[in-house]
Amino acid sequence: MPPAPQSVTVRVPAKVNVQLAVGGRRTDGYHDLANVFFAVALGDQVTASPADTLRITVSGPDADQVPLDDGNLAARAARLLARRHGLAPDVHLHIAKDIPVAGGMAGGSADGAAALVACDALWGTATPRDILLELAAELGSDVPFALLGGVALGHGRGEILRPLPVAGTFHWVFAVADGGLSTPAVFRECDRLRDLAGTGSDTAAVPDPQADPALLDALATGDTVALAAALSNDLQPAALSLRPALAATLRAGADGGAIGTLVSGSGPTCAFLTKDEDSAAAVATALATSGTCRSVRVTHGPVPGATVLHRP
Ligand code: C5P
Repeated sequence: MPPAPQSVTVRVPAKVNVQLAVGGRRTDGYHDLANVFFAVALGDQVTASPADTLRITVSGPDADQVPLDDGNLAARAARLLARRHGLAPDVHLHIAKDIPVAGGMAGGSADGAAALVACDALWGTATPRDILLELAAELGSDVPFALLGGVALGHGRGEILRPLPVAGTFHWVFAVADGGLSTPAVFRECDRLRDLAGTGSDTAAVPDPQADPALLDALATGDTVALAAALSNDLQPAALSLRPALAATLRAGADGGAIGTLVSGSGPTCAFLTKDEDSAAAVATALATSGTCRSVRVTHGPVPGATVLHRP
């Protein structure tokens, strides 16, 4: 039998939703979605090492904003997987954080997915993929996608996934805002705006969300211009309502040459699709000098989901 590993490091991507169609509020408070997830090369690393008790540490520029208690999805993931196998969740999880915190890029969900994979490898529990995906869905709506990566269509509350065909690489710039937005608060604002407009916000009032065929075709053919034209996010009006300054960020990226702009998920990070790598660098410079965001990140995708990097 091979010796038990000393530590396992997993790399996990952030996501941007190239389409986020939000249906009515369900009786359980969630919203049905047609959610096209796209994994980008911006990511966190989670290292699991043996320990006497569950312990979380975090490094990176936003480390002080990451909860260390049970609000941390990596901690919840370790507990959930341990319970499933009748083990004690004794592990040290170190999160090297690069994904903006509370930024609409599923950073917390990514850490939950990475912790599932890292603990499974460290403990040698060899959990089947379908069970890992089930546990991921229990942790949160965006966690299964962080396991899967690539590009996928999410239905239900976003956890029922179908991988989508995609050709080539797309270049993205992200403008990170000062401070985060709470996902539940953004969904509540979306409902409030729908009620205010007189359309209603429950499932009887809002049509079932559908994936946009033009967007799926743009992904499958690697057509950046068509993808830029099809980008859409039903949470964007709510994020802009809660954070009106984001309009200036979106404008600055468009003025800098981005061919597509949108708020990433529930925000406040803004995402900019660019024609190519050179254009991404130009958009990043324009955003960095615009004074409309805290920091700027240049990246690309799609990339794979949570992947074991280091297993001594
Ligand atoms: O599933 P997760 O815990 O990530 O969701 C966080 C919150 O976002 C939920 O409590 C809910 O308020 C909102 N949400 C929603 N509909 C979804 C996903 C999330 O209303 N499909």
